[in-house]
Amino acid sequence: MVPKKQEHIPVLADEVLKLLDPKPGESYLDLTAGYGGHASLVLERTLNAPAILVDRDEQAISALKKRFADKPVQISHSDFLAASSEQLDKNERFDLILADLGVSSAHLDTPSRGFAFMHDGPLDMRMDTDAKLTADAIVNGYSAEEIAEILKNYGEEPRARRIAQAIVANRPITSTKALAEVVARAAGRGRGKIHPATKTFQALRIAVNDELGQLEQALPVWIQLLKPGGRLAVISFHSLEDRLVKRAFAELAGDRYDSEAKLLTKKPVEAGRDEIVFNPRARSAKLRAVVKIKIPVTTGPKRKGV
Ligand SMILES: C[S@@+](CC[C@H](N)C(=O)[O-])C[C@H]1O[C@@H](n2cnc3c(N)ncnc32)[C@H](O)[C@@H]1O
Repeated sequence: MVPKKQEHIPVLADEVLKLLDPKPGESYLDLTAGYGGHASLVLERTLNAPAILVDRDEQAISALKKRFADKPVQISHSDFLAASSEQLDKNERFDLILADLGVSSAHLDTPSRGFAFMHDGPLDMRMDTDAKLTADAIVNGYSAEEIAEILKNYGEEPRARRIAQAIVANRPITSTKALAEVVARAAGRGRGKIHPATKTFQALRIAVNDELGQLEQALPVWIQLLKPGGRLAVISFHSLEDRLVKRAFAELAGDRYDSEAKLLTKKPVEAGRDEIVFNPRARSAKLRAVVKIKIPVTTGPKRKGV
């Protein structure tokens, strides 16, 4: 079936199912449920056992409510750091946890959300439209130094200073197309295949939604939220996210005697060519997973001669 323009196709779906390995009766926490693609596949296998579906986007929440109207799932409009901390406070634990990070196809395909330079729209980029900070506030309000820091840290943009100065010199900038043009003029076309504004848009989006801050603080909470034997899978879409996931998993699920969890993926799982042709968003997806160790080890390794 050819998907409709805004339909979100879940990435690495087979691989997620293989690693999470959902079984009848297992509880499920989906921290970025989006349009419910992964969630419906998991719920088919848990036979509609208790599940919580979280998203910070109101539109996604409405779509989830419709899609799962006849299922016994709890749907929560929240960012995943707040949602997972709340579950920890309530002492809840889950067999299966999934975080499929970043934006959905609906974000990118809806000009009024301001995520994409391919469409003209306002400089918004908020996943949660109740949030205060918009891309407009950064582009038209921050100093050139502050903008350059954002472009460098969240976009790994080598021409961060030049672009930031051009942004400040061309204010007010009021639309995504206008911003993309200012960036393209400042950065030059370059030799790469990607549009010169790609990194700037990524950086602004990450800053507006505090994406890395959320992820860094939430990862240890997610490991704590697993039941013994429970599985956590995280899909990231750029190297900054994947680095955080890799580091947290190495710390919490490394080969140490006191590790809380064990790696299910030594290297990240990536999409094959067939999937990328069908769903180009899968091109940059990286999937990592861990399993919570069943019996916590309380003593250290035996030393020689002891
Ligand atoms: C890639 S989509 C998920 C798609 C989903 N797995 C599916 O199959 O339909 C990512 C979703 O995560 C949400 N999101 C991103 N960061 C979030 C956060 N920190 N807290 C809650 N939701 C978040 C976005 O609003 C978006 O709907």
